[in-house]
Amino acid sequence: MIETTATGIDGLDDILNGGIVKNSTTLVSGNPGAGKSILCLQFLYNGVKEFGEKGIYLSFEEDAQDLEEAAVSLGFDEWGEYVENGDIKVYDKQELLRENDFSSSLDLLLDDIEDAGYDRLVLDSLAMFELFFENESEKRTYLLKFTDILSQNELTTLMTNEQGAVFPDTEIGLENYLTDGNIYLIQTPTESGVNRYVWVAKMRKQNIETDIFPMEIAEGGIRVHQNASAFSMMSEDESPI
Ligand SMILES: Nc1ncnc2c1ncn2[C@@H]1O[C@H](COP(=O)(O)OP(=O)(O)O)[C@@H](O)[C@H]1O
Ligand SMILES: [Mg+2]
Repeated sequence: MIETTATGIDGLDDILNGGIVKNSTTLVSGNPGAGKSILCLQFLYNGVKEFGEKGIYLSFEEDAQDLEEAAVSLGFDEWGEYVENGDIKVYDKQELLRENDFSSSLDLLLDDIEDAGYDRLVLDSLAMFELFFENESEKRTYLLKFTDILSQNELTTLMTNEQGAVFPDTEIGLENYLTDGNIYLIQTPTESGVNRYVWVAKMRKQNIETDIFPMEIAEGGIRVHQNASAFSMMSEDESPI
């Protein structure tokens, strides 16, 4: 029986056959605004609230204050409290660039990971993280080392990835192969807003539902609907070809 780490998002855990495979790294890809950071917030928040598991949020895009405001706007009211008492540790850009060079900051982070007994980690975003490396080979080597350290320390990890192209013109990169799971968050425009979907394309060692499921973002965060509806790149208002 494969051990899983539940996201605490009901519909998503069902699709995942229980949750994300424990000690694995999953890439969460999508266009800007697709809900990647919200999924990460929710993963860590539910981790503490429902499962008593501590988490780390490495945030290269938003600072700690932005994250807290986003969390509170979604009804994750105890976010600030969890950060204060150490159940959630936020490393934002400022924190990550405090040392003279990035690798010293990473060493501090790795010490923290090894000491503190965290269960969940978020890297938001991988694209920004990768900017700190000089070249492809350095980036690749570090990424391999990093995912290895995370898994050795029994961390279940989500890494977000900005997608340049609009789904389904998915770019498959090294990141997709290096990670154990691939989740896509998809948004398609409609006249009144967007339709949102989640697609779990891969989860090593797990029998997952590979359909595309509709989801929404509202108070309470991401909610995934159980019925795999016909996925369409067209808005419902348009007539089918
Ligand atoms: N409190 C909220 N209530 C409803 N929708 C929200 C709320 N906060 C954010 N959203 C929606 O989620 C989107 C941002 O999601 P986010 O996870 O930050 O995207 P990204 O994939 O770029 O990280 C916003 O564009 C907005 O549509
Ligand atoms: Mg984001």
